[in-house]
Amino acid sequence: MNKALDFYYSSIGKKVLMSLTGLFLIVFLIEHLIGNLLLFANDEGKMYEAYGDFLVSNPVIRFIEVFMFLGIFVHVIIGIILWFKNRKTRSVKYELFRLKDNATLASRTTIFSGLVIGVFLYLHLTTFFFPLRFSDEKAGAYELVINAFSDFWYVMFYFAALFVLGYHLQHGFQSAFQTLGLRNKKYTALLDIVAFFVWCLIPIGYAAIPIYFFFFHGTGATVIMWGF
Ligand code: HEM
Repeated sequence: MNKALDFYYSSIGKKVLMSLTGLFLIVFLIEHLIGNLLLFANDEGKMYEAYGDFLVSNPVIRFIEVFMFLGIFVHVIIGIILWFKNRKTRSVKYELFRLKDNATLASRTTIFSGLVIGVFLYLHLTTFFFPLRFSDEKAGAYELVINAFSDFWYVMFYFAALFVLGYHLQHGFQSAFQTLGLRNKKYTALLDIVAFFVWCLIPIGYAAIPIYFFFFHGTGATVIMWGF
């Protein structure tokens, strides 16, 4: 009995940590999207580069960035631990949990969508973050964006990953509020609107960037010229 209670409480603790880090990462996603929308400023990347310089030179932002990477790490590790725990629980046919388990397809596959996002992040950081921060190569962020999104397959990969991100967020956002006990009936409608913004509009906002650069600055520009 005690063991079962220990398991229950430790799982809840982990779920709370998952929810808090997840919501924190959503805040990062919104901030990152707003910054990246400066790419549409039509000033050859001047505002975007200035924004990037501000991020790098501001000590407060650098400090928050450490927490962001720590948040990603904790979210991934705890997600994997919880997935293994749930699998084990199911395999020993723990009926109490099984009966309560009305998990949706999204919740059961969150681990896989999470892993796809992990692969995306690795490629994303090696394309932008590492060259900008740790390499002597002097290409600016705007130039890196133009180069990256002139590649058709890279753009396709972003599309697929952003679709999966939306799927991951659809379950994750609602589930975080449920875990934190913040899904009050009074606010359900409001929460649904915010959830829609999070899982649908954020990925669409990000996806607009590779489309724009592929067609207006990359090889897609040639296709457009041929078309006319
Ligand atoms: C598709 C549009 C996107 C563009 C153009 C973009 C661009 C960039 C650039 C230029 C950097 C380097 C910033 C610097 O170090 O000065 C960066 C960093 C980063 N990006 Fe993105 N990004 C996009 C989407 C995403 C998405 C969807 C995620 C998460 C799922 C993400 C996560 C990150 C992280 C964690 C960093 C490192 C932290 C930071 O520098 O803020 N990015 N991105």
